[in-house]
Amino acid sequence: MQGLPLTLKAEVRMKRALIALAFLLGLGLAQDGKALYERQCAACHGPTGQGVPGAIPPLAGNPRVQDEAYVVKVVREGLSGPLEVNGTAYNGVMPPMPQVSEGEARAIAQYLAGLGGAPREAAPKPQLAGDPALGRALYLGQKAFQNGGAPCQACHTVAGVGFLGGGSMGKDLTDAAQRLGGEAGLTALLQNPAFPVMRAAYQGKPLTEAEASALAAFLVQVSEEAPRPSSLYLGRFLVAGLVLLGVLLLYQAALWQLRPQSLAERIRKELRR
Ligand code: HEC
Ligand code: HEC
Repeated sequence: MQGLPLTLKAEVRMKRALIALAFLLGLGLAQDGKALYERQCAACHGPTGQGVPGAIPPLAGNPRVQDEAYVVKVVREGLSGPLEVNGTAYNGVMPPMPQVSEGEARAIAQYLAGLGGAPREAAPKPQLAGDPALGRALYLGQKAFQNGGAPCQACHTVAGVGFLGGGSMGKDLTDAAQRLGGEAGLTALLQNPAFPVMRAAYQGKPLTEAEASALAAFLVQVSEEAPRPSSLYLGRFLVAGLVLLGVLLLYQAALWQLRPQSLAERIRKELRR
């Protein structure tokens, strides 16, 4: 009867090792895309995938790069001949890179897909009527309002602006320009706020038109330039999680298949002895 506990212990130990392995595998796959890109591609396509206009196409904001199979194919087989990305023509040669495995190419493709759909310089930005730099200073309270109103940051937050993020009484304003009618809509709204708390805060201390328009311009700029780190990270964690789940399910399935013969049979054999 001595063999039984020993085989069971070995099985538990193996199970633990396999789970740890699956975990590391999942993490590794999700993180490697960026590092691999920096090692294999950045020399030509640029550290942020911006490319070299007219010579090497950008990968960030390149719609074709959203297609994982296409990226893998280009990396493995190379590419030459004329192509066009966001209105700029290219006609170069990318050598095939057999040293990059298919799995690595796929990890790079996933990293690149996360770099975003449209590049910043794709469409010329509409001219802003107000001065966004002035708006920023007013928002932060670095410049006082002419009529003495409170700085917006006392109650609001905007992604990536301000040292401590700002107050929590009002909404986050990162995408306010998109929700509230762009620069013109915001300029009108700020001169005559409909929200009771804000109306009270600026009672008798209205914003001037220039101030409202500067703040609106600032918020438009913020909504265009705000980084979206949370969705990027979310995507990466999702991929890592899914890979991990898949590996664990496969392992469980394998274990399930093996279980009836290996464990039960072994116990029966041990008992028969
Ligand atoms: C030696 C420089 C060089 C390296 C290294 C390089 N590329 Fe390229 N890549 C190019 C050039 C040049 C082109 C454009 C080829 C053409 O004009 O047909 C290109 C094109 C591409 C395209 C097609 C873009 C499109 O709009 O269709 C993709 C995708 C791509 N590269 C991905 C990668 C990835 C991923 C890596 C790293 C594994 C990489 N490249 C490494 C030079 C390079
Ligand atoms: C005393 C606190 C306070 C101050 C100061 C303040 N707000 Fe507000 N703000 C609010 C509250 C409360 C609301 C309405 C409720 C909400 O949206 O959270 C609001 C709503 C808004 C909205 C609409 C939000 C949306 O998405 O519906 C905008 C835009 C806005 N504020 C901009 C500003 C700007 C620009 C300033 C600086 C000139 C400012 N606020 C100053 C409290 C404040």
